[in-house]
Amino acid sequence: MTTVTPFQVSGEINYDRLVTDFGCTRISPELLTRFTQVTGHTPHRFLRRGIFFSHRDLDVILDRVEAGLPVYIYTGRGPSSGSLHLGHLVPFVFTKWLQDVLKAVVVIQITDDEKFMWKGLSEQDCDRFAESNIKDIAAVGFDPARTFIFRDFNYVGNMYRVVCQIQSHLTVNQAKGIFGFTDSDHCGKFAFPAVQAAPAACTAFPHLFGGRKDVPGLIPCAIDQDPYFRMSRDILPRLGLPKCAVIHSKFFPGLSGDGKMSSSEGATVFLTDSKASIRSKVGRGFSGGRDTVEEHRRLGANLEVDVSIRYLEFFLEDDDLLARIKADYQAGRILSG
Ligand code: TRP
Repeated sequence: MTTVTPFQVSGEINYDRLVTDFGCTRISPELLTRFTQVTGHTPHRFLRRGIFFSHRDLDVILDRVEAGLPVYIYTGRGPSSGSLHLGHLVPFVFTKWLQDVLKAVVVIQITDDEKFMWKGLSEQDCDRFAESNIKDIAAVGFDPARTFIFRDFNYVGNMYRVVCQIQSHLTVNQAKGIFGFTDSDHCGKFAFPAVQAAPAACTAFPHLFGGRKDVPGLIPCAIDQDPYFRMSRDILPRLGLPKCAVIHSKFFPGLSGDGKMSSSEGATVFLTDSKASIRSKVGRGFSGGRDTVEEHRRLGANLEVDVSIRYLEFFLEDDDLLARIKADYQAGRILSG
């Protein structure tokens, strides 16, 4: 059974199926061409390689950018471990690049409240994880003059009006339908979606947008977060605000080759790992290489299942080098090691 919700991702993931079920749109080659025309930048490797693969209203954002009108970028992180892992890095690396090419304000929500309620973290862990995660995120290199990182526990008072506006437009029935909550879930869970939706409204940041009500947010996120923003897109226009746009990524594969890298799984590459430990973990990752050198030379590697190849697709910028490595590996000219 496959599950893709903000609270659980498991099973074999079929991205075409998700696009159909969620009602979002594949990023087409034409849309990427338009991206280049409007911004003057070659699409990021995550776009060239279909890692960010789906969207809602990215074309509307490009129209505004072309017309010289402001947009902003919103993403976030639930601090559930002391260090980010490689998969967590993906939306932030992409958001930093979007900030550079769109010259836009970035807001980053740290949902310490979410992990407090869902993971039952102690207050100390909430504080510790939030602080160290913010450092990992800042290290991605955002423009300090155009970036606002906030923890819900500290900032929520500033956007509480917006939170209440959203809550009053969401019934318990809808929250159950969208998020799968039941009668035995506590009230905090029912209240939380409005907190993650609020930063999709520019009115949540009067100090950044001077009270303007017309600036849309563009939200890079992994596709499991889409339910929050499907909900936001339904409610924001009823508050006289523009719909947010969304751009969805696939999941970063775990070392076993399937599913999603997760902090609790054990075989996780953390940003705090030493180079030697990363080398050893990735070296033990699922390989498409053959059992013996002789067989490998004869048959070549199976690229489809090889974790190292997947990781190169995420992180190796040079398209030609990537193509060469793939061709040589597939032909058995290079070995897994
Ligand atoms: N719920 C997300 C998580 O568990 C954190 C988050 C908050 C987020 N706001 C977001 C992610 C906006 C992407 C976009 O990590």
